[in-house]
Amino acid sequence: MINQIFPATRARRLRQAPFIRELVRETRLAPGQLIQPLFVAETEEAGAIATMPGQQRYTLKDLAKEGKQLAKLGVSAVALFPALNAKLKNATGTEALNPKGLIPRAIGTLKAAAPELGVICDVALDPYTNHGHDGVLTDDGRIENDTSVELLRQQALLLARAGADVVAPSDMMDGRIGTIRTVLERDSRKDTLILAYSAKYASAFYGPFRDAVGSKAALKGDKRTYQMDPANTDEALREVALDIAEGADMVMVKPALPYLDIIRRVKDEFSMPTFAYQVSGEYAMLKTAAANGWLDEKKVVLEALLSIRRAGADAILTYFAKDVAGWLD
Ligand code: PBG
Repeated sequence: MINQIFPATRARRLRQAPFIRELVRETRLAPGQLIQPLFVAETEEAGAIATMPGQQRYTLKDLAKEGKQLAKLGVSAVALFPALNAKLKNATGTEALNPKGLIPRAIGTLKAAAPELGVICDVALDPYTNHGHDGVLTDDGRIENDTSVELLRQQALLLARAGADVVAPSDMMDGRIGTIRTVLERDSRKDTLILAYSAKYASAFYGPFRDAVGSKAALKGDKRTYQMDPANTDEALREVALDIAEGADMVMVKPALPYLDIIRRVKDEFSMPTFAYQVSGEYAMLKTAAANGWLDEKKVVLEALLSIRRAGADAILTYFAKDVAGWLD
């Protein structure tokens, strides 16, 4: 019997060289798992977004170019958000129901420029309302669920008819997934996918996005009567269960990095395609630190996105999608 004076298991053996680290790596990040959110605007509102350096509001012409580049880089899809002229906004967001509106035209533009690129369209009223809420606001300051759902139903149908591959309700009204699934089926749109923002939290990380779509200054109050309390996790599972039962194809957790525990629980509990949204505030934090030279942008971005994948996300909406696809190329 020899006396064992060495560790039988040396964990560092598996880390000693790139070849073995590569072979035992458990999680990977690929361009095909990324979705690029894009802001769309008329010429007047187009241009840089101060709080989201590197992102911009695209005119339709620039959107076509961007779509082609993203497709070439292997990014699977884009998620579109309108930055409307304030004159088009009103209390009930009627511009959301204009079949010749900005987003329906943007869908056409993208489909002509890059047919293979998936087009995901947000279903919510906040970019269209003059009070910045996702639904209809009553005189006494409440968000009316069922009248809001009625408008969201019409908006979703319009977007599907305009050619959206995926409609993504981000409004957090009760019952909207079932209502939208029903209207799509009745219109014989069997293939339109629904990506449900199921566990969407009332987060302070959405600030720069609200700058980008011009809803920040206008926002009256907050969204805590419909978006989730950041303190809750069981509630996220109940929300996801409802959306699956109502006909969602994919579910989403949002924001991403501060909510990795939610992503993991949702993935484990339902085994559904689970998406995560690395939101505007997460982008702004990394971007600002990198711009100051405090963090290595490429390394922290890849680490953050890998962590979101490791937590259980199948795909990630990230403003870094294009850059990352380029880096991974
Ligand atoms: C609104 C919507 C928001 C985002 C996506 N859809 C903002 C909000 O709920 O106020 C935020 C995305 C981001 O911060 O990047 N329906």
